[in-house]
Amino acid sequence: MPVKSTFQEALNEIKNRFDILSIVSRYITLKKAGNSYVALCPFHADKSPSMHVSPSKGIFKCFSCGASGDMFKFLIEFKKSNFSEIVHELAEELGIEIFKAQAEPEIPRENKLILEINKATADFFHNNLIQNPDAKEALDYLLEQRKMSQQTISSFGLGFSLSKKTSLLLHLQNKFKNLPEICDKEFLLKTGLFIEDKSSPEPIDRFRGRIMIPIYDLDSQVVAFGARTLDPAIQPKYLNSPETPVYIKSRHLYGMNLARPFAKSEKQVLLLEGYFDVIQAHQYGINYAVGSLGTALTKEQVNLLYQSNLNRKIVFCFDNDEAGKRALKSALQLCQELHFSQKLDLQAISLPGAKDIDEFLLQRGVEQFNELMQQSQSANNNAYNYLLLHIASQTNIEDTNQRSDALRECIDLIQNIADPIDREIQVENCARLLNFQKSTIMELIQTKETRQQNLQNWKNKVKSNNFRGNKLSKSVPRQPERKLVSIFLLTEEPAIIERINSVKINDSLAFEFK
Ligand code: UTP
Ligand code: MN
Repeated sequence: MPVKSTFQEALNEIKNRFDILSIVSRYITLKKAGNSYVALCPFHADKSPSMHVSPSKGIFKCFSCGASGDMFKFLIEFKKSNFSEIVHELAEELGIEIFKAQAEPEIPRENKLILEINKATADFFHNNLIQNPDAKEALDYLLEQRKMSQQTISSFGLGFSLSKKTSLLLHLQNKFKNLPEICDKEFLLKTGLFIEDKSSPEPIDRFRGRIMIPIYDLDSQVVAFGARTLDPAIQPKYLNSPETPVYIKSRHLYGMNLARPFAKSEKQVLLLEGYFDVIQAHQYGINYAVGSLGTALTKEQVNLLYQSNLNRKIVFCFDNDEAGKRALKSALQLCQELHFSQKLDLQAISLPGAKDIDEFLLQRGVEQFNELMQQSQSANNNAYNYLLLHIASQTNIEDTNQRSDALRECIDLIQNIADPIDREIQVENCARLLNFQKSTIMELIQTKETRQQNLQNWKNKVKSNNFRGNKLSKSVPRQPERKLVSIFLLTEEPAIIERINSVKINDSLAFEFK
Protein backbone atom coordinates (compact mmCIF):
# COMPACT_ATOMS: atom_id res chain seq x y z
CA MET A 1 0.00 0.00 0.00
CA PRO A 2 1.23 3.54 -0.51
CA VAL A 3 1.92 5.34 2.70
CA LYS A 4 -1.15 7.27 3.77
CA SER A 5 -0.46 10.63 5.34
CA THR A 6 -2.16 13.85 6.24
CA PHE A 7 -1.27 16.88 4.17
CA GLN A 8 0.99 18.14 6.96
CA GLU A 9 2.82 14.82 7.34
CA ALA A 10 3.33 14.64 3.59
CA LEU A 11 4.66 18.20 3.59
CA ASN A 12 7.17 17.35 6.35
CA GLU A 13 8.34 14.28 4.48
CA ILE A 14 8.72 16.27 1.26
CA LYS A 15 10.83 18.84 3.10
CA ASN A 16 12.95 16.01 4.49
CA ARG A 17 13.54 14.28 1.22
CA PHE A 18 13.80 17.08 -1.34
CA ASP A 19 15.95 20.18 -1.31
CA ILE A 20 16.05 23.32 -3.41
CA LEU A 21 19.01 22.07 -5.43
CA SER A 22 17.49 18.77 -6.50
CA ILE A 23 14.23 20.50 -7.42
CA VAL A 24 15.59 23.51 -9.30
CA SER A 25 18.21 21.48 -11.16
CA ARG A 26 15.46 19.38 -12.70
CA TYR A 27 14.42 22.37 -14.76
CA ILE A 28 17.40 24.66 -15.24
CA THR A 29 21.15 24.16 -15.44
CA LEU A 30 22.95 25.26 -12.30
CA LYS A 31 26.63 26.15 -12.04
CA LYS A 32 28.48 26.14 -8.75
CA ALA A 33 29.74 29.53 -7.55
CA GLY A 34 31.26 29.51 -4.09
CA ASN A 35 28.73 28.28 -1.56
CA SER A 36 25.78 28.72 -3.86
CA TYR A 37 24.78 28.06 -7.45
CA VAL A 38 23.93 30.38 -10.33
CA ALA A 39 21.73 29.99 -13.39
CA LEU A 40 19.97 31.87 -16.14
CA CYS A 41 16.73 33.04 -14.55
CA PRO A 42 13.76 31.26 -16.15
CA PHE A 43 11.36 33.99 -15.05
CA HIS A 44 12.62 36.78 -17.27
CA ALA A 45 14.75 37.21 -20.40
CA ASP A 46 18.07 36.67 -18.72
CA LYS A 47 21.33 37.22 -20.61
CA SER A 48 23.84 36.39 -17.91
CA PRO A 49 23.14 34.19 -14.89
CA SER A 50 21.27 36.37 -12.36
CA MET A 51 19.53 33.66 -10.43
CA HIS A 52 21.27 32.47 -7.28
CA VAL A 53 20.34 29.28 -5.47
CA SER A 54 21.52 28.74 -1.93
CA PRO A 55 21.35 25.14 -0.72
CA SER A 56 22.12 26.13 2.86
CA LYS A 57 19.26 28.65 3.03
CA GLY A 58 17.01 26.56 0.79
CA ILE A 59 16.06 29.52 -1.39
CA PHE A 60 16.47 30.97 -4.87
CA LYS A 61 16.71 34.66 -5.73
CA CYS A 62 17.04 36.46 -9.04
CA PHE A 63 19.08 39.63 -8.64
CA SER A 64 17.69 40.99 -11.86
CA CYS A 65 13.90 40.45 -11.82
CA GLY A 66 13.56 39.91 -8.08
CA ALA A 67 11.87 36.48 -8.26
CA SER A 68 12.65 34.62 -5.04
CA GLY A 69 11.44 31.99 -2.61
CA ASP A 70 11.82 28.38 -1.55
CA MET A 71 11.55 25.19 -3.63
CA PHE A 72 7.75 25.28 -3.51
CA LYS A 73 7.68 28.86 -4.76
CA PHE A 74 10.02 27.88 -7.59
CA LEU A 75 7.74 25.05 -8.69
CA ILE A 76 4.60 27.18 -8.37
CA GLU A 77 6.12 29.84 -10.62
CA PHE A 78 7.83 27.50 -13.02
CA LYS A 79 4.92 25.12 -13.50
CA LYS A 80 2.30 27.86 -13.14
CA SER A 81 0.65 25.74 -10.47
CA ASN A 82 -0.43 26.21 -6.86
CA PHE A 83 0.92 25.06 -3.50
CA SER A 84 -1.56 22.25 -2.93
CA GLU A 85 -1.05 20.79 -6.40
CA ILE A 86 2.74 20.88 -6.01
CA VAL A 87 2.59 19.13 -2.62
CA HIS A 88 0.33 16.44 -4.07
CA GLU A 89 2.66 15.91 -7.03
CA LEU A 90 5.79 15.59 -4.88
CA ALA A 91 3.98 13.32 -2.43
CA GLU A 92 2.99 11.05 -5.28
CA GLU A 93 6.60 10.87 -6.38
CA LEU A 94 7.45 9.59 -2.90
CA GLY A 95 4.64 7.04 -2.97
CA ILE A 96 2.66 8.96 -0.33
CA GLU A 97 -1.10 9.15 -0.60
CA ILE A 98 -2.58 12.21 1.09
CA PHE A 99 -5.92 11.69 2.79
CA LYS A 100 -8.19 14.36 4.24
CA ALA A 101 -7.22 15.17 7.81
CA GLN A 102 -10.75 14.77 9.25
CA ALA A 103 -11.24 11.07 8.71
CA GLU A 104 -10.05 8.22 6.56
CA PRO A 105 -12.47 7.71 3.71
CA GLU A 106 -15.10 5.10 4.50
CA ILE A 107 -14.28 1.76 2.92
CA PRO A 108 -17.05 1.30 0.36
CA ARG A 109 -19.52 -1.51 0.99
CA GLU A 110 -18.45 -3.17 -2.24
CA ASN A 111 -14.82 -3.43 -1.12
CA LYS A 112 -15.86 -4.90 2.22
CA LEU A 113 -17.95 -7.48 0.44
CA ILE A 114 -15.15 -8.44 -1.93
CA LEU A 115 -12.77 -8.89 1.02
CA GLU A 116 -15.33 -11.05 2.79
CA ILE A 117 -15.83 -13.14 -0.33
CA ASN A 118 -12.07 -13.46 -0.82
CA LYS A 119 -11.74 -14.77 2.73
CA ALA A 120 -14.52 -17.33 2.21
CA THR A 121 -12.88 -18.31 -1.09
CA ALA A 122 -9.47 -18.82 0.51
CA ASP A 123 -11.08 -21.00 3.22
CA PHE A 124 -12.94 -23.01 0.58
CA PHE A 125 -9.75 -23.61 -1.44
CA HIS A 126 -7.80 -24.51 1.70
CA ASN A 127 -10.44 -27.03 2.83
CA ASN A 128 -10.44 -28.53 -0.65
CA LEU A 129 -6.72 -29.08 -0.45
CA ILE A 130 -6.83 -30.70 2.97
CA GLN A 131 -10.00 -32.77 2.58
CA ASN A 132 -11.19 -33.20 -0.98
CA PRO A 133 -10.05 -36.43 -2.69
CA ASP A 134 -9.86 -34.51 -5.99
CA ALA A 135 -7.03 -32.44 -4.48
CA LYS A 136 -4.93 -35.49 -3.59
CA GLU A 137 -2.48 -34.99 -6.43
CA ALA A 138 -2.04 -31.33 -5.47
CA LEU A 139 -1.51 -32.14 -1.80
CA ASP A 140 1.00 -34.88 -2.62
CA TYR A 141 2.82 -32.48 -4.95
CA LEU A 142 3.14 -29.87 -2.19
CA LEU A 143 4.13 -32.34 0.53
CA GLU A 144 6.44 -34.55 -1.48
CA GLN A 145 7.83 -32.63 -4.41
CA ARG A 146 7.86 -29.15 -2.92
CA LYS A 147 8.62 -30.45 0.61
CA MET A 148 6.02 -28.23 2.25
CA SER A 149 4.99 -29.07 5.80
CA GLN A 150 1.32 -29.13 6.92
CA GLN A 151 2.23 -26.19 9.12
CA THR A 152 3.55 -24.16 6.16
CA ILE A 153 0.49 -25.05 4.08
CA SER A 154 -1.74 -23.66 6.81
CA SER A 155 0.24 -20.57 7.66
CA PHE A 156 0.30 -19.52 4.01
CA GLY A 157 -3.31 -20.64 3.58
CA LEU A 158 -2.48 -22.70 0.49
CA GLY A 159 -5.43 -24.31 -1.26
CA PHE A 160 -6.76 -26.02 -4.35
CA SER A 161 -9.40 -24.97 -6.88
CA LEU A 162 -11.48 -27.88 -8.17
CA SER A 163 -11.70 -28.39 -11.89
CA LYS A 164 -15.52 -28.16 -12.16
CA LYS A 165 -16.57 -24.92 -13.89
CA THR A 166 -18.71 -23.57 -11.05
CA SER A 167 -17.57 -25.21 -7.85
CA LEU A 168 -16.57 -21.90 -6.23
CA LEU A 169 -19.59 -20.07 -7.62
CA LEU A 170 -22.02 -22.61 -6.18
CA HIS A 171 -20.20 -22.69 -2.85
CA LEU A 172 -20.34 -18.90 -2.49
CA GLN A 173 -23.95 -18.64 -3.69
CA ASN A 174 -24.91 -21.15 -1.04
CA LYS A 175 -22.83 -19.54 1.70
CA PHE A 176 -24.00 -15.98 0.96
CA LYS A 177 -27.57 -16.79 -0.06
CA ASN A 178 -28.94 -13.69 1.64
CA LEU A 179 -26.62 -11.38 -0.22
CA PRO A 180 -28.28 -10.01 -3.39
CA GLU A 181 -24.93 -9.21 -5.05
CA ILE A 182 -23.87 -12.85 -5.06
CA CYS A 183 -26.11 -13.47 -8.08
CA ASP A 184 -25.20 -10.23 -9.84
CA LYS A 185 -22.98 -11.03 -12.79
CA GLU A 186 -21.32 -7.64 -12.86
CA PHE A 187 -20.38 -7.86 -9.19
CA LEU A 188 -19.09 -11.41 -9.55
CA LEU A 189 -16.82 -10.38 -12.42
CA LYS A 190 -15.57 -7.45 -10.35
CA THR A 191 -14.28 -9.78 -7.62
CA GLY A 192 -11.77 -11.19 -10.13
CA LEU A 193 -12.74 -14.70 -9.08
CA PHE A 194 -14.99 -15.33 -12.07
CA ILE A 195 -14.85 -14.95 -15.82
CA GLU A 196 -17.42 -14.87 -18.57
CA ASP A 197 -18.14 -18.10 -20.38
CA LYS A 198 -19.35 -18.28 -23.95
CA SER A 199 -21.45 -21.34 -23.32
CA SER A 200 -23.41 -20.07 -20.31
CA PRO A 201 -25.12 -16.86 -19.18
CA GLU A 202 -23.61 -17.24 -15.70
CA PRO A 203 -19.96 -16.49 -15.12
CA ILE A 204 -17.68 -19.42 -14.27
CA ASP A 205 -14.76 -19.87 -11.86
CA ARG A 206 -11.56 -18.21 -13.06
CA PHE A 207 -9.33 -20.64 -11.19
CA ARG A 208 -9.82 -24.33 -11.90
CA GLY A 209 -7.60 -27.30 -11.06
CA ARG A 210 -4.77 -25.20 -9.67
CA ILE A 211 -2.86 -24.84 -6.42
CA MET A 212 -4.16 -21.63 -4.88
CA ILE A 213 -1.94 -19.12 -3.12
CA PRO A 214 -3.78 -16.31 -1.34
CA ILE A 215 -2.14 -12.88 -1.42
CA TYR A 216 -2.64 -10.93 1.80
CA ASP A 217 -2.39 -7.22 2.52
CA LEU A 218 -0.58 -5.84 5.57
CA ASP A 219 -3.69 -6.43 7.69
CA SER A 220 -3.71 -10.09 6.58
CA GLN A 221 -6.87 -9.69 4.53
CA VAL A 222 -6.99 -11.79 1.36
CA VAL A 223 -6.82 -9.35 -1.58
CA ALA A 224 -6.00 -11.67 -4.48
CA PHE A 225 -4.78 -15.12 -5.53
CA GLY A 226 -1.94 -16.67 -7.45
CA ALA A 227 -2.67 -20.08 -8.94
CA ARG A 228 -0.09 -22.65 -10.03
CA THR A 229 -0.81 -25.38 -12.50
CA LEU A 230 0.25 -28.92 -11.70
CA ASP A 231 0.61 -29.81 -15.34
CA PRO A 232 3.78 -28.43 -16.97
CA ALA A 233 1.99 -28.55 -20.35
CA ILE A 234 -0.59 -25.98 -19.21
CA GLN A 235 0.13 -22.30 -19.73
CA PRO A 236 0.46 -20.01 -17.96
CA LYS A 237 2.33 -21.66 -15.11
CA TYR A 238 0.83 -19.12 -12.74
CA LEU A 239 -2.55 -17.55 -13.28
CA ASN A 240 -3.00 -14.45 -11.12
CA SER A 241 -6.01 -12.41 -10.01
CA PRO A 242 -6.61 -9.34 -12.11
CA GLU A 243 -6.67 -5.95 -10.39
CA THR A 244 -9.91 -5.43 -8.48
CA PRO A 245 -11.28 -2.68 -6.23
CA VAL A 246 -9.28 -4.26 -3.36
CA TYR A 247 -6.16 -5.26 -5.30
CA ILE A 248 -3.75 -2.88 -6.94
CA LYS A 249 -0.86 -5.13 -7.78
CA SER A 250 1.90 -2.52 -7.59
CA ARG A 251 1.13 -1.86 -3.91
CA HIS A 252 1.73 -5.31 -2.52
CA LEU A 253 4.64 -7.55 -1.72
CA TYR A 254 3.91 -11.20 -1.23
CA GLY A 255 4.44 -12.32 2.36
CA MET A 256 4.91 -8.83 3.83
CA ASN A 257 2.11 -9.41 6.34
CA LEU A 258 4.12 -12.29 7.85
CA ALA A 259 7.62 -10.91 7.28
CA ARG A 260 7.20 -7.42 8.71
CA PRO A 261 7.81 -8.11 12.41
CA PHE A 262 10.85 -10.26 11.54
CA ALA A 263 12.27 -7.71 9.12
CA LYS A 264 12.11 -5.23 11.99
CA SER A 265 13.93 -7.48 14.44
CA GLU A 266 16.42 -8.79 11.85
CA LYS A 267 16.99 -5.21 10.68
CA GLN A 268 16.81 -6.30 7.06
CA VAL A 269 14.34 -7.51 4.48
CA LEU A 270 15.05 -10.15 1.85
CA LEU A 271 13.43 -9.61 -1.55
CA LEU A 272 12.75 -12.73 -3.60
CA GLU A 273 10.97 -13.30 -6.90
CA GLY A 274 8.48 -16.12 -6.59
CA TYR A 275 5.65 -17.39 -4.39
CA PHE A 276 7.39 -20.65 -3.61
CA ASP A 277 10.65 -18.87 -2.88
CA VAL A 278 8.98 -16.88 -0.12
CA ILE A 279 7.08 -19.87 1.25
CA GLN A 280 10.17 -22.08 1.28
CA ALA A 281 12.33 -19.34 2.82
CA HIS A 282 9.87 -18.92 5.70
CA GLN A 283 9.69 -22.68 6.15
CA TYR A 284 13.47 -22.69 6.63
CA GLY A 285 13.24 -19.89 9.17
CA ILE A 286 14.20 -17.08 6.81
CA ASN A 287 11.10 -15.26 7.92
CA TYR A 288 12.15 -11.77 6.82
CA ALA A 289 11.57 -12.68 3.15
CA VAL A 290 9.01 -11.17 0.78
CA GLY A 291 8.30 -11.59 -2.94
CA SER A 292 7.98 -9.21 -5.86
CA LEU A 293 6.20 -11.90 -7.88
CA GLY A 294 8.29 -11.83 -11.00
CA THR A 295 7.45 -8.29 -12.12
CA ALA A 296 9.49 -5.10 -12.07
CA LEU A 297 9.57 -3.44 -8.67
CA THR A 298 7.35 -0.36 -8.22
CA LYS A 299 7.92 2.74 -6.10
CA GLU A 300 5.14 1.73 -3.69
CA GLN A 301 6.90 -1.60 -3.18
CA VAL A 302 10.25 0.12 -2.58
CA ASN A 303 8.48 2.26 0.01
CA LEU A 304 7.17 -0.84 1.75
CA LEU A 305 10.67 -2.29 1.80
CA TYR A 306 12.12 0.99 3.06
CA GLN A 307 9.67 1.08 5.93
CA SER A 308 10.05 -2.56 6.86
CA ASN A 309 13.21 -2.08 8.94
CA LEU A 310 15.01 0.79 10.57
CA ASN A 311 18.34 -0.05 8.96
CA ARG A 312 16.66 0.54 5.60
CA LYS A 313 18.41 -2.58 4.46
CA ILE A 314 17.14 -4.49 1.43
CA VAL A 315 18.84 -7.69 0.31
CA PHE A 316 17.96 -8.66 -3.25
CA CYS A 317 18.03 -12.33 -4.11
CA PHE A 318 16.78 -12.65 -7.66
CA ASP A 319 16.93 -15.63 -9.99
CA ASN A 320 20.41 -16.61 -11.03
CA ASP A 321 20.03 -15.66 -14.71
CA GLU A 322 20.35 -12.62 -16.98
CA ALA A 323 16.71 -11.67 -16.34
CA GLY A 324 17.45 -11.67 -12.61
CA LYS A 325 20.45 -9.35 -13.14
CA ARG A 326 18.35 -7.03 -15.28
CA ALA A 327 15.65 -6.96 -12.62
CA LEU A 328 18.27 -6.09 -10.00
CA LYS A 329 19.66 -3.29 -12.15
CA SER A 330 16.29 -1.67 -12.64
CA ALA A 331 15.43 -2.13 -8.95
CA LEU A 332 18.61 -0.24 -8.01
CA GLN A 333 17.80 2.49 -10.49
CA LEU A 334 14.33 2.88 -9.02
CA CYS A 335 15.71 3.03 -5.47
CA GLN A 336 18.00 5.87 -6.55
CA GLU A 337 15.20 7.81 -8.18
CA LEU A 338 13.21 7.91 -4.96
CA HIS A 339 14.50 10.37 -2.44
CA PHE A 340 14.64 8.91 1.02
CA SER A 341 15.47 10.82 4.16
CA GLN A 342 17.81 8.00 5.18
CA LYS A 343 20.17 6.20 2.86
CA LEU A 344 19.14 2.76 1.69
CA ASP A 345 21.51 -0.10 2.39
CA LEU A 346 21.20 -2.16 -0.79
CA GLN A 347 22.73 -5.62 -0.87
CA ALA A 348 22.52 -8.50 -3.31
CA ILE A 349 23.19 -12.18 -2.99
CA SER A 350 23.40 -14.93 -5.55
CA LEU A 351 23.00 -18.61 -4.90
CA PRO A 352 25.46 -20.66 -6.93
CA GLY A 353 24.21 -23.77 -8.64
CA ALA A 354 20.53 -23.05 -8.05
CA LYS A 355 17.85 -21.30 -10.09
CA ASP A 356 16.22 -19.76 -7.04
CA ILE A 357 16.29 -19.84 -3.25
CA ASP A 358 13.63 -22.57 -3.12
CA GLU A 359 15.89 -24.90 -5.08
CA PHE A 360 18.95 -23.81 -3.09
CA LEU A 361 17.39 -24.47 0.30
CA LEU A 362 16.13 -27.90 -0.73
CA GLN A 363 19.54 -28.91 -2.09
CA ARG A 364 21.95 -27.24 0.31
CA GLY A 365 20.04 -26.25 3.44
CA VAL A 366 19.74 -23.06 5.42
CA GLU A 367 23.22 -23.06 7.03
CA GLN A 368 24.82 -22.66 3.63
CA PHE A 369 22.40 -19.89 2.84
CA ASN A 370 23.26 -18.07 6.06
CA GLU A 371 26.96 -18.48 5.32
CA LEU A 372 26.51 -16.94 1.88
CA MET A 373 24.54 -14.09 3.40
CA GLN A 374 27.37 -13.40 5.81
CA GLN A 375 30.06 -13.56 3.14
CA SER A 376 28.18 -11.35 0.74
CA GLN A 377 27.65 -8.75 3.41
CA SER A 378 31.22 -8.46 4.56
CA ALA A 379 32.86 -5.06 4.57
CA ASN A 380 32.20 -2.73 1.63
CA ASN A 381 30.02 -5.12 -0.27
CA ASN A 382 26.77 -3.91 -1.68
CA ALA A 383 24.44 -4.44 -4.60
CA TYR A 384 26.50 -2.11 -6.79
CA ASN A 385 29.79 -3.96 -6.55
CA TYR A 386 27.83 -7.15 -6.87
CA LEU A 387 26.59 -6.03 -10.30
CA LEU A 388 29.92 -4.51 -11.34
CA LEU A 389 31.63 -7.78 -10.51
CA HIS A 390 29.04 -9.63 -12.54
CA ILE A 391 29.50 -7.33 -15.55
CA ALA A 392 33.29 -7.68 -15.31
CA SER A 393 33.06 -11.45 -15.05
CA GLN A 394 31.16 -11.54 -18.37
CA THR A 395 33.74 -9.36 -20.11
CA ASN A 396 36.89 -10.34 -21.94
CA ILE A 397 39.14 -7.51 -20.81
CA GLU A 398 41.50 -8.04 -23.78
CA ASP A 399 38.70 -7.27 -26.22
CA THR A 400 38.42 -3.48 -26.64
CA ASN A 401 34.80 -3.52 -27.76
CA GLN A 402 33.67 -5.73 -24.92
CA ARG A 403 35.63 -3.63 -22.47
CA SER A 404 34.02 -0.36 -23.56
CA ASP A 405 30.54 -1.91 -23.70
CA ALA A 406 31.05 -3.11 -20.15
CA LEU A 407 32.22 0.34 -19.09
CA ARG A 408 29.08 1.92 -20.55
CA GLU A 409 26.93 -0.56 -18.69
CA CYS A 410 28.77 0.18 -15.44
CA ILE A 411 28.42 3.93 -15.95
CA ASP A 412 24.66 3.56 -16.41
CA LEU A 413 24.63 2.02 -13.00
CA ILE A 414 27.08 4.25 -11.18
CA GLN A 415 25.91 7.61 -12.44
CA ASN A 416 22.66 7.34 -10.48
CA ILE A 417 24.27 6.75 -7.10
CA ALA A 418 23.19 9.79 -5.15
CA ASP A 419 25.76 9.67 -2.36
CA PRO A 420 29.05 11.11 -3.68
CA ILE A 421 31.19 8.91 -1.45
CA ASP A 422 29.41 5.72 -2.52
CA ARG A 423 29.70 6.85 -6.08
CA GLU A 424 33.42 7.49 -5.79
CA ILE A 425 33.93 4.02 -4.31
CA GLN A 426 32.11 2.42 -7.23
CA VAL A 427 34.05 4.48 -9.77
CA GLU A 428 37.23 3.12 -8.21
CA ASN A 429 35.84 -0.40 -8.32
CA CYS A 430 34.90 -0.05 -11.93
CA ALA A 431 38.31 1.38 -12.85
CA ARG A 432 40.03 -1.54 -11.19
CA LEU A 433 37.76 -4.24 -12.63
CA LEU A 434 37.84 -3.02 -16.22
CA ASN A 435 41.29 -1.50 -16.15
CA PHE A 436 40.39 2.12 -16.97
CA GLN A 437 41.70 5.34 -15.46
CA LYS A 438 39.44 6.70 -12.73
CA SER A 439 39.59 10.12 -14.40
CA THR A 440 38.32 8.71 -17.70
CA ILE A 441 35.29 7.24 -15.97
CA MET A 442 34.59 10.48 -14.09
CA GLU A 443 34.81 12.42 -17.31
CA LEU A 444 32.45 10.07 -19.12
CA ILE A 445 29.93 10.32 -16.31
CA GLN A 446 30.20 14.10 -16.35
CA THR A 447 29.66 14.31 -20.12
CA LYS A 448 26.72 11.97 -19.97
CA GLU A 449 25.16 13.90 -17.13
CA THR A 450 25.54 17.23 -18.86
CA ARG A 451 23.94 15.82 -21.97
CA GLN A 452 21.06 14.30 -20.05
CA GLN A 453 20.58 17.53 -18.14
CA ASN A 454 20.42 19.53 -21.37
CA LEU A 455 17.95 17.11 -22.81
CA GLN A 456 15.85 17.26 -19.64
CA ASN A 457 15.89 21.06 -19.72
CA TRP A 458 14.59 20.95 -23.23
CA LYS A 459 11.88 18.45 -22.45
CA ASN A 460 10.76 20.61 -19.52
CA LYS A 461 10.80 23.78 -21.57
CA VAL A 462 8.77 22.17 -24.29
CA LYS A 463 6.36 20.70 -21.72
CA SER A 464 5.81 23.92 -19.84
CA ASN A 465 5.86 26.05 -23.01
CA ASN A 466 8.14 28.31 -21.09
CA PHE A 467 10.36 29.68 -23.81
CA ARG A 468 10.71 33.06 -22.24
CA GLY A 469 14.22 34.34 -21.99
CA ASN A 470 15.71 32.89 -25.12
CA LYS A 471 15.49 33.29 -28.82
CA LEU A 472 13.11 30.41 -29.29
CA SER A 473 9.98 32.43 -28.63
CA LYS A 474 10.61 34.38 -31.80
CA SER A 475 11.92 31.68 -34.03
CA VAL A 476 9.56 28.85 -33.06
CA PRO A 477 6.31 30.71 -33.03
CA ARG A 478 3.62 28.11 -33.29
CA GLN A 479 2.71 25.10 -31.14
CA PRO A 480 2.89 22.37 -33.84
CA GLU A 481 6.39 23.42 -34.76
CA ARG A 482 7.49 23.38 -31.15
CA LYS A 483 6.29 19.82 -30.87
CA LEU A 484 8.19 18.88 -33.99
CA VAL A 485 11.33 20.44 -32.58
CA SER A 486 10.95 18.52 -29.35
CA ILE A 487 10.77 15.26 -31.26
CA PHE A 488 14.05 16.06 -32.94
CA LEU A 489 15.63 16.88 -29.63
CA LEU A 490 14.78 13.59 -28.03
CA THR A 491 16.99 11.79 -30.47
CA GLU A 492 20.72 11.59 -30.03
CA GLU A 493 21.26 10.65 -33.65
CA PRO A 494 24.17 12.79 -34.93
CA ALA A 495 22.75 12.92 -38.46
CA ILE A 496 19.55 14.52 -37.20
CA ILE A 497 21.40 16.99 -35.04
CA GLU A 498 23.54 17.93 -38.02
CA ARG A 499 20.43 18.39 -40.11
CA ILE A 500 18.86 20.64 -37.48
CA ASN A 501 21.98 22.77 -37.62
CA SER A 502 22.08 22.87 -41.38
CA VAL A 503 18.45 23.92 -41.91
CA LYS A 504 18.96 26.62 -39.31
CA ILE A 505 15.64 26.08 -37.57
CA ASN A 506 17.13 27.98 -34.74
CA ASP A 507 20.62 28.75 -33.56
CA SER A 508 19.91 28.34 -29.90
CA LEU A 509 18.48 24.91 -30.49
CA ALA A 510 21.77 23.52 -31.59
CA PHE A 511 23.53 25.51 -28.94
CA GLU A 512 21.35 24.17 -26.11
CA PHE A 513 21.64 20.64 -27.34
CA LYS A 514 25.40 20.57 -27.30
P1 UTP B 1 9.26 -18.52 -11.97
O1 UTP B 1 8.93 -19.02 -13.33
O2 UTP B 1 10.68 -18.28 -11.61
O3 UTP B 1 8.56 -19.55 -11.04
O4 UTP B 1 8.44 -17.19 -11.74
P2 UTP B 1 8.87 -20.01 -9.56
O5 UTP B 1 8.37 -18.99 -8.60
O6 UTP B 1 10.25 -20.48 -9.41
O7 UTP B 1 7.81 -21.20 -9.50
P3 UTP B 1 8.05 -22.72 -9.23
O8 UTP B 1 9.14 -22.82 -8.24
O9 UTP B 1 8.36 -23.35 -10.53
O10 UTP B 1 6.73 -23.16 -8.71
C1 UTP B 1 8.66 -16.31 -10.65
C2 UTP B 1 7.36 -15.65 -10.29
O11 UTP B 1 6.86 -14.94 -11.42
C3 UTP B 1 5.45 -14.98 -11.43
C4 UTP B 1 5.03 -15.74 -10.18
O12 UTP B 1 4.80 -14.84 -9.14
C5 UTP B 1 6.24 -16.58 -9.91
O13 UTP B 1 6.32 -16.99 -8.56
N1 UTP B 1 4.92 -15.67 -12.61
C6 UTP B 1 5.65 -16.61 -13.27
C7 UTP B 1 3.63 -15.41 -13.03
O14 UTP B 1 2.94 -14.56 -12.44
N2 UTP B 1 3.13 -16.07 -14.10
C8 UTP B 1 3.83 -17.03 -14.76
O15 UTP B 1 3.30 -17.63 -15.71
C9 UTP B 1 5.14 -17.28 -14.35
MN1 MN C 1 11.03 -21.92 -8.23
